[in-house]
Amino acid sequence: MAIVYDEANKYFRLLTKNSEYQIKIDEVGLAIHTYYGKPTYGTEMSYQIIPIDRGFSGNLYELKLNRGRSIDVLPQEFTGCGIGDFRVSSLNVISANGSHSCDLRYKTHVITDGKEPIPGLPYVRPYEDNVSTLVITLEDKLIGLEVELYYSVFEDKDIITRHTRLINKADSVLDVTKASSGMLDLQFGDWDEVHFVGKHTMERQFTRNHLSQDIRVISSKRGMSSHHQNPFVIICDHDAEENYGECYGMMLMYSGNHKFEIEQDQAGATRIVAGINDDNFSWKLLQGESFDTPELIMTYTDGGFETLSHNYHNIIRENVCDRKYMDIKRPVLINNWEATYFDFNADKIIDIAKTASDLGVEMMVLDDGWFGKRDDDNSGLGDWFVNEKKLIGGLKRISDETDKLGMKFGLWFEPEMINEDSELFRKHPDWALRDPDRNPTMSRNQMVIDMSNKAVEDYLFDCISKILASAHISYVKWDFNRSVCNVYSNNLPADRQGETAHRFMLGTYSLLDRLLKAYPDLMIEGCSGGGGRFDAGMLFYCPQIWCSDDTDAIERLDIQEGTSFGYPVSTVGSHVSAVPNHQTGRTTPLNTRGIVAMSGTFGYELDITKLSEDEKSEIKEQIKTFNSYYWLIQKGDYYRLTKAGQNEIYKAWEFAARDKSEALLNIVVKRSQANAKIKNIRLKGLDEASVYRLQGTDQRMTGAALMHGGYALNLSMGDYPAVQLHFIKEV
Ligand code: GLA
Repeated sequence: MAIVYDEANKYFRLLTKNSEYQIKIDEVGLAIHTYYGKPTYGTEMSYQIIPIDRGFSGNLYELKLNRGRSIDVLPQEFTGCGIGDFRVSSLNVISANGSHSCDLRYKTHVITDGKEPIPGLPYVRPYEDNVSTLVITLEDKLIGLEVELYYSVFEDKDIITRHTRLINKADSVLDVTKASSGMLDLQFGDWDEVHFVGKHTMERQFTRNHLSQDIRVISSKRGMSSHHQNPFVIICDHDAEENYGECYGMMLMYSGNHKFEIEQDQAGATRIVAGINDDNFSWKLLQGESFDTPELIMTYTDGGFETLSHNYHNIIRENVCDRKYMDIKRPVLINNWEATYFDFNADKIIDIAKTASDLGVEMMVLDDGWFGKRDDDNSGLGDWFVNEKKLIGGLKRISDETDKLGMKFGLWFEPEMINEDSELFRKHPDWALRDPDRNPTMSRNQMVIDMSNKAVEDYLFDCISKILASAHISYVKWDFNRSVCNVYSNNLPADRQGETAHRFMLGTYSLLDRLLKAYPDLMIEGCSGGGGRFDAGMLFYCPQIWCSDDTDAIERLDIQEGTSFGYPVSTVGSHVSAVPNHQTGRTTPLNTRGIVAMSGTFGYELDITKLSEDEKSEIKEQIKTFNSYYWLIQKGDYYRLTKAGQNEIYKAWEFAARDKSEALLNIVVKRSQANAKIKNIRLKGLDEASVYRLQGTDQRMTGAALMHGGYALNLSMGDYPAVQLHFIKEV
């Protein structure tokens, strides 16, 4: 059993293959966090908590003479509020008499096999047999609040998930103004924090800071997980590297406003609190009601960033995304966005599909502009009806043609948005999120629809269902093209407006869930102006997400590298686009664009009908190559071979089969230099004693030679050269 309770010493051990987590219930019922690290083989770790009377750190009443045990310095699992832990809190709640205090003590616990879904929210799926769950119930008897702390242990994957359920047992309402998913108190250590920052067209850039006595906040209040700060944080040794050092990962499975607070306190201890952003958040918890927070996915390793990433890749591929996608080959697609933007008709789309199909492309995706009045990005959102004038014969005609070609057909939607200039807005102006009597702030000249309103959700479910039933559509690209402000729901009373942002996310998740239940074979690709909602929450519904609106191969190197810290390649939407690139004006070779896009779901986003015969034959070869490496790329272990944010000359990465039978090495030169250094790249994940042959040559080297010596290349002429080398184990 991965969860053990020692009744005599009142402590829990949560055990994974390579980690251990300990919680102790102390003499006054506080849930003390005593350890998270390598397995201890059975030592209760509370001996590390040494009582020290620190000035201005008060004591709970029962501990008034035991001044060394202040909640202001004790490492805990989850805090109450207002009673003397002056660090960032896990919870803020206001009770009926206006008090802001909450004192949580142990009530009971239960350990079970398996793991339950979280009502209304995405969750890590317990596909394995050996998942078990601990629920510790804390309570504040005085205000009538119970807090259930859920811990699920994925033993083989070195993953522990957490979430919190608040239950009102009082006879009056409780106003919750902060409800975090989990907290981690690390008593010792000299830590850095790593997180992934960015902006539209430049998401998830690796960022590292040394912690000091202050509070750092990584958050979003954009109503989306955002391009700017991904909901994923790593706390690592100050000297941790790719293959060295302790690392803790905390990833929030949520697509809305999030917040990670990282505080180093007076005693040098580090606290990380993660959950829904409490900025403008409040929730009225009525008598008998409960509130569930999003799930937090945590891992620990002492093996550096590489192992941490592998842990996340495995859990996301196998337990966050629907597992069926592990064994379904996803189609190589062509998308018409950068080929036509809004300027297309049915003939043009069919032409693109035909040319692409000849070259091996397996799915045609029709992007923005097929519905309502939508010839530019100023109108039409909300009117999910085919524009028959533009698409003569409708979607059915296109899907009949793609059927004939043996291709699949996919369609773009942006369900959570509404344009002022739309039939929908004229009919239901109250369905837009906006303050009454105040002009809304526009972005891309659109507003956000009120997903907290069930009538809106039903409308969208009906429209989308009708469209899906009207033609043979097997894929939806689900976009979200603005940050959310004017967060006011006309459907909620004044004192519940603080619930709108979270209810919005619950509405979106519910709509996704209903559609996937009604259309179980439908594949949804997430998108938000590229990677503005690239998070584990969306990945529960969408096995892939368009990684960035920046399709430039060289910019994509950094974006995809940053993404790789938390998310597997199987989730990364990436396409070959035209040159000069539409975002940067840069011209890169087709080969380089192909190699970069292959480290993802792979597809094309250009007017393929305008390419030369040479380019078309190169694309035909590219698709064959991608298909031949498909399972190695999707299921193999991904290795970063150059240091994140450090090598400005070239980037290298690799896919190695789990059984060590083959590996694919990818190298892209970002800057060619005269009289350049030889690039020597050490491979990873091979079998030392086996011999590997470089495909297409007679060159043979042992795994040890390739891993400890490396493979040397002189690759420096021209703009952005790239190579892909396939090593196959000899039997
Ligand atoms: C977003 C997406 C693009 C495209 C446009 C259409 O920007 O990221 O890929 O679908 O919307 O408006």
